[in-house]
Amino acid sequence: MSIYILGIESSCDDTSAAVLKDRQILSNVIANQDIHKSYGGVVPELASRAHQQNIIPVVEVALQKAKIRKNQLDGIAFTRGPGLLGSLLVGTSFAKAFALGLNIPIIEVDHLKAHILAHFVEVSPDRPHPEFPFLCLTVSGGHTQIVKVNAPSDMEILGKTIDDAAGEAFDKAAKIMGLPYPGGPEIDKLAKSGNPKAYPFPEPKIQGLNYSFSGLKTAFLYFLRDQLKLDDAFIEKNKADIAASIQDTIIRVLLSKLRRAVRETGITEVAIAGGVSANSGLREQLLMMAEKERWKVYLPGLQFTTDNAAMIAITGYFKYLNKDFASQDIAPYAKSGFR
Ligand code: KG4
Ligand code: ZN
Repeated sequence: MSIYILGIESSCDDTSAAVLKDRQILSNVIANQDIHKSYGGVVPELASRAHQQNIIPVVEVALQKAKIRKNQLDGIAFTRGPGLLGSLLVGTSFAKAFALGLNIPIIEVDHLKAHILAHFVEVSPDRPHPEFPFLCLTVSGGHTQIVKVNAPSDMEILGKTIDDAAGEAFDKAAKIMGLPYPGGPEIDKLAKSGNPKAYPFPEPKIQGLNYSFSGLKTAFLYFLRDQLKLDDAFIEKNKADIAASIQDTIIRVLLSKLRRAVRETGITEVAIAGGVSANSGLREQLLMMAEKERWKVYLPGLQFTTDNAAMIAITGYFKYLNKDFASQDIAPYAKSGFR
């Protein structure tokens, strides 16, 4: 018999609900919160208020699109953390109340594991997914990790950022350039017509498989400050080259550690996940590296790169199979810890 899972994601500024029939996607509805754009970043209080307004209509639409009735659901998976506590509380409370009313189990999901397991959401039966064990470079607005994925419930972090995340590096560079929030997609767009070798930025020297992006951000800030002293239209005149150069540096840093992780583990099954995995330069360069190094790579569909509830539902599905349910007194957590 098929299992129907409703996934709820509310960790940051997107309210999302999705329905899966086993691994097959039936709906994945996302309500973005445009309100944060005018503040240049996510305002936590506004985010949780918007989640409260969005959650019921988003779930209703997800059920409608999936063409199922609520009493057909077998379980409700929700993001427990990490994220903004006020935002997480909305999704968690909704999941608990809805499940209680339907008398079905709730399943807690770690947002970062979910980004990785998004690869197993079945959009079409012939789309391949990674084989275990595989390596996943998870690159989002809050995290940058190289993860060894042994099984859906068994993941090991081999390396991670010691300061800023890759998405943060994109967003901060964009902010310095005066581009709108979130800056990652803006830099991606501009970089397409720029020269990635126009301005060389220093690559951080960090031991092992860890990352650091805060020095790069400072170098970028000082570079632009010095150039603007010579020509106050420097950014305007060169924005495509500047965007392409900073993007190329971030990608080089990301991929060089990933290559090292492959060489150290001998695992050549490689995936990427998280918001930054939407970056066209990263996707292109990863494919090139994979061909050269003979890796098998998996790029997530664009709808599964940034935050979405389908990834929560698929993680919930795997946990449902293990009867790994949460109790009604569960509370969200803000910090990452990979539980
Ligand atoms: O995974 P995500 O939606 O949220 C978190 O869990 O953090 O990732 C959001 C991040 C933001 O920093 C955003 O700028 C970045 O992903 N991002 C991109 C692109 N699309 C989203 N960065 C670079 N290029 C993109 N195309
Ligand atoms: Zn995310």
